[in-house]
Amino acid sequence: MIRLENITKVYRSSEVETTALNNINLNIEAGEFISIMGPSGCGKSTLLNVLGMLDSPSDGKYFFNGEQISRYSERKLAQKRKGHIGFIFQSFNLIDELSVAENIAMPLFYQGIARAERQQRVDEVMQRLNIAHRAKHMPQQLSGGQQQRVAVARALICKPEVILADEPTGNLDSKHGDEVMELLKQVNDEGTTILMVTHSQYHAEYAKRLIHLFDGKVVSENQLAKVAEHA
Ligand SMILES: Nc1ncnc2c1ncn2[C@@H]1O[C@H](COP(=O)(O)OP(=O)(O)O)[C@@H](O)[C@H]1O
Ligand SMILES: [Mg+2]
Repeated sequence: MIRLENITKVYRSSEVETTALNNINLNIEAGEFISIMGPSGCGKSTLLNVLGMLDSPSDGKYFFNGEQISRYSERKLAQKRKGHIGFIFQSFNLIDELSVAENIAMPLFYQGIARAERQQRVDEVMQRLNIAHRAKHMPQQLSGGQQQRVAVARALICKPEVILADEPTGNLDSKHGDEVMELLKQVNDEGTTILMVTHSQYHAEYAKRLIHLFDGKVVSENQLAKVAEHA
């Protein structure tokens, strides 16, 4: 589904040049669940941003469903991203002034989907993630774990093929972190491909494949034999 060939990302300012990604080669099949680990500054977020088409590589080729997209304009990338890719962030990134249901509906709103269909799809995803009883709550009335559940619902609402999660349990205590991981596992079992950055070895092992980055390079890759013993 995704193939990266010799992907390099260099950030340049007048003073310094930082090579955030250094010749990354990666094949991702539909349905995979991949964890990405590595020390701070090794390029994990940059890799997710490139995969998520939020940022363009400086060099190399990016194939998404066979289409070479590394030279696409920002507008074309945004178009491609919509409906294909969902994002989850460490800090949830919910809009405080909107209710749970309204937050989840946001991506559909931007796609110009009519109110009745928005309502129906939001209800559906809230049922699926067991958050229907929180529909009218505001984000601050929820625990961190519940807020991240809402963020997962928002990421799923456009039925993306891929979910990119940047330290989704980084701001959660272990109980709520585990709950979010169980949820991601469920989402993956239902067919969505997941790439997740994490600092937790325990959470990394929910995935089927583990990739270690160091200084912008893939330094090791492991198939995780047994999927989440703790699940
Ligand atoms: N927008 C940017 N401009 C300049 N340098 C950046 C930018 N984003 C990331 N970097 C640099 O690229 C490297 C990798 O960053 P990042 O991908 O955020 O690492 P990680 O997520 O693994 O902590 C770091 O040296 C960081 O300072
Ligand atoms: Mg990061």
